[in-house]
Amino acid sequence: MTSVAIVTGASSGIGAATARRLAAEGFHVLAAARRTDRLTDLVAEIAAAGGSATAVACDVTSDESVAGLAEAAAAAPGPVTLLVNNAGGARGLDPVESGSVGDWQWMYDVNVLGTLRVTQALLPALAASGAGTIVIVSSTAGFTVYEGGGGYAAAKHAQTAIAGTLRLELSGRPVRVIEIDPGMVKTDEFGLVRFGGDADKAAAVYAGVAEPLVAEDVADCIAWCATRPHHVNVDRLVVRPLAQADQHKVHRVT
Ligand SMILES: NC(=O)c1ccc[n+]([C@@H]2O[C@H](COP(=O)([O-])OP(=O)(O)OC[C@H]3O[C@@H](n4cnc5c(N)ncnc54)[C@H](OP(=O)(O)O)[C@@H]3O)[C@@H](O)[C@H]2O)c1
Repeated sequence: MTSVAIVTGASSGIGAATARRLAAEGFHVLAAARRTDRLTDLVAEIAAAGGSATAVACDVTSDESVAGLAEAAAAAPGPVTLLVNNAGGARGLDPVESGSVGDWQWMYDVNVLGTLRVTQALLPALAASGAGTIVIVSSTAGFTVYEGGGGYAAAKHAQTAIAGTLRLELSGRPVRVIEIDPGMVKTDEFGLVRFGGDADKAAAVYAGVAEPLVAEDVADCIAWCATRPHHVNVDRLVVRPLAQADQHKVHRVT
């Protein structure tokens, strides 16, 4: 029977790449996000490539919407074995001194409470499969901080805390928890969302970096972790581009 994978934030970037990759690995993918037009295109693209996927409208900040995702999972054509909590992002690059409370609230709600809601809703199905996997896409900001990144780092540290706590709490049950911590990934929308649509500011983040990671690189990491034998639990995978030796040490050719 085909295993079912759920990917949140599948309408762009890392989530869309992960949905494509997991479909190519043989999963039936439930691609979840708010922008259903994009999901419809993605599902058609996956089908054209010989895979199978279903688009599910889901706002991870809404209990009702997440309950709808759980219903879609229950109706899916196989056991739900994989959940990729990917929906998230950053808003603003302001110092703590002047950061917007609204931006911090948005980051906490989508990244942290979104992961909590979706995980709570899907955990019964994952456990019932007998071989469940929960992936949490946190960030290198989940274990380090940088100027202007306080709100995002606070949210990603919280996601990292969820991953560690959940692994302990699920000990003895058939669900493993994997944390993926990417560094600099050049996706189309992450920077635009962070800088309120300012394309120049978004592009400046990657200026002079020869080869930042792309969404497919992170999807490859997620797929590798998720397709290991189920007794192999990759607790945490940190992945950066070669040009990024550390958060502040980025090799730029100018
Ligand atoms: N790019 C990087 O450098 C980087 C580095 C480390 C970690 N990450 C993390 O990787 C994940 C994906 O990032 P990305 O670069 O692929 O960014 P992205 O292209 O902006 O994708 C974010 C996704 O989250 C979805 N999303 C946002 N709010 C949502 C909500 N309320 N409910 C459901 N879905 C929602 C968006 O879909 P809709 O708008 O259609 O809902 C979109 O599909 C995020 O968690 C991010 O923090 C990114």
